[in-house]
Amino acid sequence: MKADIGLVGLAVMGENLVLNMESHGFTIAVYNRTVEKVDAFTSGRGAGKHIIGAHSPKELVAVLKKPRIVMIMVRAGSAVDDTIAQIAPLLEPGDIIVDGGNSNYQDTMRRLAELEGKGLLYVGTGVSGGEEGALNGPSLMPGGSEAAWPHIKPIFQAIAAKVDDGSPCCDWVGPGGAGHFVKMVHNGIEYGDMQLIAEVYHMMRDQLGMTPDEMADVFEAWNKGELDSYLVAITRDILRFKDEDGLPIVDKILDAAGQKGTGKWTGITALDFSVPVTLIVEAVFARCLSAMKDERVRAVKILGKPSGARFKGSRGAFIEDLGKALYAAKIISYAQGFMLLREAAAEYGWKLNYGSIALMWRGGCIIRSRFLGRIKEAFDAEPSLSNLVFAPFFAAQVLENESALRNVVGEAVASGIPVPALSSALEWFDGLRTERLPANLLQAQRDYFGAHTYERIDKPRGEFFHTNWTGHGGSTAASTYVV
Ligand code: ATR
Repeated sequence: MKADIGLVGLAVMGENLVLNMESHGFTIAVYNRTVEKVDAFTSGRGAGKHIIGAHSPKELVAVLKKPRIVMIMVRAGSAVDDTIAQIAPLLEPGDIIVDGGNSNYQDTMRRLAELEGKGLLYVGTGVSGGEEGALNGPSLMPGGSEAAWPHIKPIFQAIAAKVDDGSPCCDWVGPGGAGHFVKMVHNGIEYGDMQLIAEVYHMMRDQLGMTPDEMADVFEAWNKGELDSYLVAITRDILRFKDEDGLPIVDKILDAAGQKGTGKWTGITALDFSVPVTLIVEAVFARCLSAMKDERVRAVKILGKPSGARFKGSRGAFIEDLGKALYAAKIISYAQGFMLLREAAAEYGWKLNYGSIALMWRGGCIIRSRFLGRIKEAFDAEPSLSNLVFAPFFAAQVLENESALRNVVGEAVASGIPVPALSSALEWFDGLRTERLPANLLQAQRDYFGAHTYERIDKPRGEFFHTNWTGHGGSTAASTYVV
């Protein structure tokens, strides 16, 4: 018996992907560095299935159909390089290595260049959906050597999540590190979505004094409308969940958030590309601030708490505004995320299909939502759409919900409830629609102290001027450069 694909790395994601592939009629050879795990798997969850246990990379490669496909599901970082170093020498030109871990897209670009230099094909694929998704249908975002796509497509599209019309949440993303880049932005957006929901929860809890069950009812109602999404659904379930003593478990969980780094990478990339992905960056920093628990406890002792004034108006109307604010901020967050994708595509010469990226995220993954169907429609209608908020549907939606967002942020600011993601959405939206920002003054300051020059509104773009502001500076301008 020959295997259709080999998989290295039998941790949670690897095991579940193998079982998913097997259930779709594929035969899989498996290998893991700690080989006991291979036997434990083939005699445990994998028993009686079309799964071949291999005790060395050589054994794994020997049982694969050609061209060989080896998918690596090990910890991101040096473990991927170690595994490639073991597998690649055993392969022939035209064989394919797929990295399905959470690799940094720049690592993927480096590995791709190295392996293509040896005649191998390399794919870096985003895999999202956690354990459940890996088993029953993940969102898959493959990119890299395009010649590999026809070979992996039947397997990938078979195991991927499907949307209502049966389309798989998996398509070819693009060359280079495009697959892992798209996965990185997905994770950044996930940080943003989670932070937005957390801020709305904070306001319901502290400004409206709602109980977890009352909040769960609101999230349940929201999940039937435009906010219908996996994260809103699990928030509803979390809020209803009771600890052994019958009290809501959410109230007992320490408010110090962890993170594994992909949100941070999105932020760093956004800064590198000069794209204002403000909401995701705020979401990352909000986790950092939450993690400083001791410092916050100390701060309250020294500085006191914000006023914490309760909301005095109509509760029902305010809850409605919270839902609208969440929706408007979410539109803005996705607009920012797609701006980053567009900039990366320009930078690296990737031709990204934004509608198909939205479809890949539509099911299977953590950010899956009805809303992504709308995004797909917007990009399908106008593939060259430069900004999501310019699409007629989203422009109308964001404007319709703008006053609710403004109202919610205003109330939060007045009572001292931190809403960095909601407010950054509003700031970005206001900034985007301000024709004349105060950057004329920044340019004057830069020219004053550093002779950095400026452009003038009464002259064509691209002509730079320097003023001798103090009378004793020289008339030599510094060379212009763009960061
Ligand atoms: P999880 O968090 O779900 O356990 P992970 O830490 O991302 O998953 O990945 C763990 C996998 O990476 C395991 O298969 C592990 O192999 P072992 O079972 O032998 O520990 C694999 N792994 C980690 N470092 C590795 C390395 N340097 N070379 C090969 N495989 C490695």
